Amino acid sequence: MIPATTPATAPSVVDDSYDLRALDAALAGTPFAGGLRYFPSLASTNTLAMRQAEEGAPAGRVYLADEQTAGRGRAGRAWQSLSASGLYVSVLLRPRMAPADILWLSLAAGLAVRAAVRQVTSMEADIRWPNDLLFGRKKFCGILVELNAEVTRVRHCVVGIGINVHQESFDPSLASLATSLRVETGRAWPRQDLLLALLQALHREAAALDADASAAAASIVERLSGAGSWMRGKRVRVEEGEGYSGVTAGLDARGFLRVRTAQGMRTVVSGGVREAVRESR
Ligand code: BTN
Repeated sequence: MIPATTPATAPSVVDDSYDLRALDAALAGTPFAGGLRYFPSLASTNTLAMRQAEEGAPAGRVYLADEQTAGRGRAGRAWQSLSASGLYVSVLLRPRMAPADILWLSLAAGLAVRAAVRQVTSMEADIRWPNDLLFGRKKFCGILVELNAEVTRVRHCVVGIGINVHQESFDPSLASLATSLRVETGRAWPRQDLLLALLQALHREAAALDADASAAAASIVERLSGAGSWMRGKRVRVEEGEGYSGVTAGLDARGFLRVRTAQGMRTVVSGGVREAVRESR
């Protein structure tokens, strides 16, 4: 199993607290205004968001933690979330979408993070399908989208985002896999600015999907094709079932990644992908 991209060392000194009142004011006009809930320490923002969604919490709630003690990643992996190191946030949405279309929201969340990081740091991140964000070969952001749905109707959906911001170094087991904004740029970026830019970008993406899902999907495919070196022509190992290797060949009409293998074209529906060369070592 590939270990989660987890920060191992907290930064030496970082005073980077959130100004919730300023954030709330800046979010006026979005569904997130008035919805911020901050926790100095929490097991997992996704877990709390999913639980409160079931209890009737409204769309637009934003669960933000300085530290998570049981942060969760995709495929049951852990996402270690040390205090004052990263941005850990989960957004509760109730999109008018079929569950089969939620992948679009998940892909759009990756684009929203990319836009926010560009806005704040001027850095252009790569996107590895479906929504890992990387600089070079190293991941600095992971997104966990969880769903509660009937077959034809989404009851609620939680978009959980973890961004490595202030980590200065990583555990040896992760050093070749993980990076942070601090490592990449050599300076500290305020989580407040990242969060605001992220929520504004996420709002734009969700509103576009809500207004015209097919047009939004086409735009997502186009932007991902331009944004990610992973979407086409990348030799990958697919972590699905027994696993297989091939070369990425764009997205299908539902947003799933196509991979050309020696046996023909396959579609990645549930697993993730890793660079084939690295995996074979
Ligand atoms: C992954 O790449 O495996 C996804 C990682 C998602 C981590 C974030 S941090 C905020 C939210 N709360 C969680 O427990 N997980 C997500």
